[in-house]
Formats: sequence, C-alpha cells, structure tokens
Amino acid sequence: MSFLKSYAKNFMAILSSYNNPLKKVENISQKDELEKAFYNEEAEKYLENFDIDLFLYDENEKFPASHRYFYSLLQDIKDKRILDCCCGYGFSSVKCAKGGAYVTGIDISPRMIELSQKNADFNHVSDKTDFRIMSAQQMEFENDSFDYVIGMGALHHLNLELAGNEIKRVLKKGGRAIFIEPRIPFKWLIFLRSVIPTKCLESPGGAQLSDREIKLFSRKFSQIHIEYFIFLNKLSRLPLFNKISDKLEQVDIYLSKKCKYLKKLYWAWVLVFIK
Ligand SMILES: C[S@@+](CC[C@H](N)C(=O)[O-])C[C@H]1O[C@@H](n2cnc3c(N)ncnc32)[C@H](O)[C@@H]1O
Repeated sequence: MSFLKSYAKNFMAILSSYNNPLKKVENISQKDELEKAFYNEEAEKYLENFDIDLFLYDENEKFPASHRYFYSLLQDIKDKRILDCCCGYGFSSVKCAKGGAYVTGIDISPRMIELSQKNADFNHVSDKTDFRIMSAQQMEFENDSFDYVIGMGALHHLNLELAGNEIKRVLKKGGRAIFIEPRIPFKWLIFLRSVIPTKCLESPGGAQLSDREIKLFSRKFSQIHIEYFIFLNKLSRLPLFNKISDKLEQVDIYLSKKCKYLKKLYWAWVLVFIK
C-alpha cells in the first residue's frame, strides 16, 4: 500500500513538473504575470554574462527554412516602420534595423527589453530602434502606425482576440502582419498531451496554435497567406536524424508544395495577414 502511495506521489510530482503545451491559461493578467516572470529569468541568464559571439550580428547566418522564408518577406523594408511584437532579445529587431527599417520592439518582460536594447547598442542600430515594455494585447501606439507587424514565436503567447484587434489597429491599411508560430498538427494530440506528461520547453503562458484559432484570428484581416514548415524534419531532434536535418527540410518543402493534404501534418507555419 505504501509502495502505491509513494508511486502515486511521484507520478503526481512528475505530472506537475511538466507543462502541457495545449493547456492555456485563460486569465489574462495571471498569464501576463507568469510570462513576465518566466522571461525575466530567461533574460537574466544572458544579461548576467553577455556573450558577444551570440549577439554579434552576422549577415550570413544560416537559418532554418521557416526563418529564411520569414525574412524573405522582409526584403523591401528600407525606411519602413516595423513593430516587432514580443521582441524577446531583439534578434529580428536588429536584423530589420540593419535592413534599413525603423523598428519598435515591444515585450512584456522588462529584462528582455533591457537585453534587446543592449543587443541594438552592441550592433550599432540604436538610432533605428526603440524598445518599450508593453503588452501586445494593449498597445500605446496610434492607429495606422506601422507598415509591418512581425513576430517570431509571438502569437502563441497572446490572447488572440485582444492582440488581433491591436495588431490590426496599429497596422497601416495594406500593411502586413507576419509571424512564425508553432502549430499543433493532430487534434488527437491535444487529448494525448493532456493525459501523457511530455517534456515541454514552452513558457507557462505559451501554447501551440490550432488551425481553428488561426482561422478565427484571420477573420480580422482582408487576406491571409500560410506556408507550412517542419514535418519529417521533426525527427531531427533525434540524434540519428540530426545529421540529415538539411535533407529532411528539403523533402518537407517539396512535399508541402506537392500535396496540400500533407500540410495538416506540419509543426510550424509562417502566417501573413494583410490589413
Ligand atoms: C518565444 S519568446 C520570442 C522572443 C523573440 N520574438 C525571439 O524570436 O526570440 C516570447 C516573448 O513573448 C513575450 N510576451 C509574452 N506575453 C506577452 C505580451 N502579452 N505582450 C508582449 N510580449 C509578451 C515574452 O516576454 C517573450 O519575450
């Protein structure tokens, strides 16, 4: 009996130490506080010991296919006004500023904003960037302020109804909102993830997005375009497949173009919404 008790106790401890990427925290202020604390701590690691090599901007950096596609949509940005939503440590902000844009980066975590500012200073683009502690669900900008709103791993941390209204409001007419986000490919995985504890690197307020959520979100905009990434390449997390990640990526791109039904099985997407 005592064996069963201690087994159950251990199992519950394991369960509570893992987080379910689909279990959304619905209370907005509670979620924002959790996110702020989590990302302040993340930023702290980098601020404590600022690694020059990690932050030095490299024009020839090799990106995964999703990121290459994302940045290919941001070619013509000289003198454009860009809002980097949930800017984190400011990687995209710095990259866009290097491309000649004026970038405003917002994040709910004050320590992340500090890190972004440090990143911009270090890479000599502070004259083109402006970082502010702000929630993407309640922005302080005028209507029609930006040519682009961008976000890398942003939407899946936000209340989509509130953030969607704000993103649309601050975009100029014809402006584009471009995001890379994680996607949940199988509905049954939602159930499976709720009963089987799986290790998840997601923050407490983050959760992969479903097709239905994006469909609802896209209703706010006049047009939407979606490209899918990461199907077989998901296997490259395993050591055996790690070495052929580039090949798997190419196969994924080929398959996504050849068979539209397969897209349902992909794990990430680049979403473009036009106001
Ligand atoms: C996955 S990180 C992405 C960071 C960055 N875009 C990147 O590519 O590295 C998510 C970021 O969203 C921020 N965040 C979470 N909730 C937010 C909110 N309501 N408003 C603004 N930022 C938020 C977090 O502080 C965190 O920096």
